Amino acid sequence: MREQLLAAEKVKAIEWQGDALLLLDQRLLPQQQVWLRYTEASAVAEAITLMVVRGAPAIGIVAAYGVALAVRQRLAEGGDWRAAVEGDMRLLAESRPTAVNLFWALNRMRDCLQQVQVDADALAVVTAEAEAIHASDREANLVMAQLGAELIRKHGDKPQRLLTHCNAGALATGGFGTALGVIRAAHAEGLVERVYADETRPWLQGSRLTAWELATDGVPVTLNVDAAAAHLMKTQDISWVIVGADRIAANGDVANKIGTYQLAVNAMHHGVRFMVVAPSSTIDMALEHGDDIPIEERAGSELLELAGQRVAAEVTACNPVFDVTPADLVDVIVTEKGVVERPDVEKMAQLMCRKRLH
Ligand code: MRU
Repeated sequence: MREQLLAAEKVKAIEWQGDALLLLDQRLLPQQQVWLRYTEASAVAEAITLMVVRGAPAIGIVAAYGVALAVRQRLAEGGDWRAAVEGDMRLLAESRPTAVNLFWALNRMRDCLQQVQVDADALAVVTAEAEAIHASDREANLVMAQLGAELIRKHGDKPQRLLTHCNAGALATGGFGTALGVIRAAHAEGLVERVYADETRPWLQGSRLTAWELATDGVPVTLNVDAAAAHLMKTQDISWVIVGADRIAANGDVANKIGTYQLAVNAMHHGVRFMVVAPSSTIDMALEHGDDIPIEERAGSELLELAGQRVAAEVTACNPVFDVTPADLVDVIVTEKGVVERPDVEKMAQLMCRKRLH
């Protein structure tokens, strides 16, 4: 199965070239495929803020490469290069607030840098660490894909109808995705009749990215407006909602793209199972519950305008881009360390003590 899944890795959004980082500009997909080249951490931070790259694991990986670029640049400049790199890490940390993978990756890079005694070793050591973060996310995707597909099979071995939100695929990770990794594996096993993809207002990650990824892989996908989800659950015999996560608190509360919470409420009402797929780097054991997760607010213009043209009346708009689904609405969290059914504080703590399954 591993080989079959690896063969399904057709789309990628991050390429490391040793002295530069290439990012597929996700703002333009799927109409245009444009790669942008980065050599400085400040520009990488801006790329994260502007959504050139997005998705929690991808943001963490890109920030790690950003630190490697910072070390290269600051060493070449001379002087107190460690202080300058620390400044670059602050910029990266300020790029987006919700996905904890960003802070997890920066902490790992900081710890790694602190171990380096000899300046001449610094670049090679931090580069290897960033590459390791990237490689382990890819491996985690493979493990989660298989665990998630097993769960789908356990609840019925006939092809099923699934619903997903936002984009938790290859574009959002270092591999072939978290939620979409599970969907790809389930499809490879003949368990998917159709995937309904929420379009995901206002950035349209569902219609532009998820629909494109699935269609490219030959997975049957139908696009719907976000507001159709409850109706589809009532009328289309959907068996699972499968989503990714940006941060999971110690009690199992899940922050993900705005609209995920209402999907979970609707799933509970309609008896549809709700699966969250995320690597353990998305779990923030320092936060007791989801109310403590910082929720990013983006500019109101994202709602008031369409393609740069004002469409809304002369009013203000509120634009929180994530929400928190309480743990008691989640049937299962799938990670590379294993699966947690009906998550709570004890089960999450036990999970985090386990070794990775790869
Ligand atoms: O604003 P985005 O596009 O970065 O939001 C992405 C999501 O909410 C994803 O569902 C989440 O990061 C999981 S990605 C594997």
